[in-house]
Amino acid sequence: MNQRPGRNDPCHCGSGKKYKRCHMELERGQATQPAVSKPLIGAVHSNSLVLPRPDWDRMRVAGRFNAELMDFIRPQVLPGARLDELDRLVHDYTVDHGHTPACLGYHGFPKNMCSSVNEVVCHGIPDSTLLKDGDIVNIDLTTIVEGWHGDQSETILVGDVSDTARRVTQCAFDSLWRGIEAIKPFGPIVEIGKAIVEHAEPLGYSVVRDYQGHGIGRRFHQEPGIPHYPDRRYASELIEPGMCFTIEPMINIGTWRVILDRTDGWTVRTADNQLSAQFEHTLLMTETGPEIMTKTKHGPQKGHRF
Ligand code: MF3
Ligand code: CO
Ligand code: CO
Repeated sequence: MNQRPGRNDPCHCGSGKKYKRCHMELERGQATQPAVSKPLIGAVHSNSLVLPRPDWDRMRVAGRFNAELMDFIRPQVLPGARLDELDRLVHDYTVDHGHTPACLGYHGFPKNMCSSVNEVVCHGIPDSTLLKDGDIVNIDLTTIVEGWHGDQSETILVGDVSDTARRVTQCAFDSLWRGIEAIKPFGPIVEIGKAIVEHAEPLGYSVVRDYQGHGIGRRFHQEPGIPHYPDRRYASELIEPGMCFTIEPMINIGTWRVILDRTDGWTVRTADNQLSAQFEHTLLMTETGPEIMTKTKHGPQKGHRF
């Protein structure tokens, strides 16, 4: 997720410094530049966020591998599984295939994936915790394949879960799909957040605001930011064919407010400690609509009921 903390909040990179003393200038600089310039005619495009054709295939390859990794790890996310064991399996599968786990060392992140259990919203660090029957856990995987990134996450039901946990997971899954279906070639980014909020809020859930989807490609996180609520600052930003980005709504049972763990600098929890669920895909905008780069063979497909 692309995090925009307040100026006096701790920086998301885990440095322990205030945001304004760390990454703020850099990221404000990026944010104030329009994400999309006017489309140009011909092969040359002034905006490098719009990938030329050959790079579309590179993103497809990266996304496909990442999805295979998800298919590999999903069946092992079971009651009794240790999070840092799952993390090691993800690491080994990735490097055995000649690729690189993107999370490892990213702004100092210590593991290969994020595992976010129950009230953890995102960026949970895999540790010796054992999953137990009734947990919900988001597994967020990002791989670098020949220099290109695939990024996706799924919330997985561990054993038998409560109806409450199942329903918030369902809402997060459906919210991702509403977001995907809301965005058209040359369409405004805000449509994504509008569709997500219009789905989740009438069901009584809240949508996390402090973390966003993001542009992706050779870099893990880049412009444009993809808010999951109708943030008016994005009213004039458009998604053009050739742009790659993620949609990754985090849906909470209670308040949308979140708290960053000051001890590890990464773990984000709901402010009220109620459950949160999330799903994420990497997408490429084509001339006919968004194409999912990280579609799995065995994961939940569109319309899935948990
Ligand atoms: N995969 C997360 C995302 O969807 C980012 C994790 S950054 C890490 O954007 F450093 F925590 F791995
Ligand atoms: Co992401
Ligand atoms: Co991710």
